Amino acid sequence: MDDAFQNVYEDERRALSYAGLEFPGTYWLAFRDLPEILRRHGRVGSALDFGCGAGRSTRFLGSLGFRVLGVDISRAMLARAQERDPQGEYLLVADGDLSPLKDRRFDLVFSAFTFDNIPDHERRVRLFGALGDLLAAEGRMVNLVSAPEIYVHEWLSFSTRDFPENRAAGPGDRVRIVMLDVEDRRPVEDVLWTDADYDATFTTAGLTLLETHRPLGLESDPFSWVSERRVSPWIVHVLGRGAHGG
Ligand SMILES: C[S@@+](CC[C@H](N)C(=O)[O-])C[C@H]1O[C@@H](n2cnc3c(N)ncnc32)[C@H](O)[C@@H]1O
Repeated sequence: MDDAFQNVYEDERRALSYAGLEFPGTYWLAFRDLPEILRRHGRVGSALDFGCGAGRSTRFLGSLGFRVLGVDISRAMLARAQERDPQGEYLLVADGDLSPLKDRRFDLVFSAFTFDNIPDHERRVRLFGALGDLLAAEGRMVNLVSAPEIYVHEWLSFSTRDFPENRAAGPGDRVRIVMLDVEDRRPVEDVLWTDADYDATFTTAGLTLLETHRPLGLESDPFSWVSERRVSPWIVHVLGRGAHGG
């Protein structure tokens, strides 16, 4: 592991906060359209939840009918996931090493917010390439990440007002954000990654971008949105393998 890279989720207090977090406010918006997107792009079957954390996204996929394996590099997060879901399948992996999964294939490889914290282009290309290799024929990868805009606005569930330096951040730079739905108000440190960076990463990793979705808050949603109706805080990438996504 790169010395400069510290996983903020390898932390008991953060893991506890995450374990209590289901889908409040702005997070709800991140997941709102996924059932429909997943229905349109594939079939229900086996799924890998890469960076499953305390298992929120794993339980979400399970509720849609997927048989899910959750993997993470944080022992603290996985302990919470297993505690909430004793029958669920969870596995600790070393950073960048998916070799324990080499004999398995998944109809869906899912990742929610995991790439928000992963630094540098090469590391991302290696991981996306390795995740692509785990897809079954015609399998799909769905990558849910923070949009660069999330770091420069106020949101129902997040604040960035204490970090004006986020505005000057470029690709690969550290950006900070505070989660308002949990007691632990220490800032989360992410890595800024633009659309162009993701495009280049996917191409180099041998993946085809089939759809990009940016969910916007609606008046009919059960929340009083802050910036969510004007600006989307999230990006959902739907990917397939090879030039045609097959
Ligand atoms: C923001 S949390 C999201 C957790 C979960 N997907 C959710 O939606 O609640 C990101 C997770 O990615 C994990 N992670 C970061 N780098 C990883 C890597 N290289 N391999 C696997 N997991 C990783 C972190 O440990 C953390 O639990």
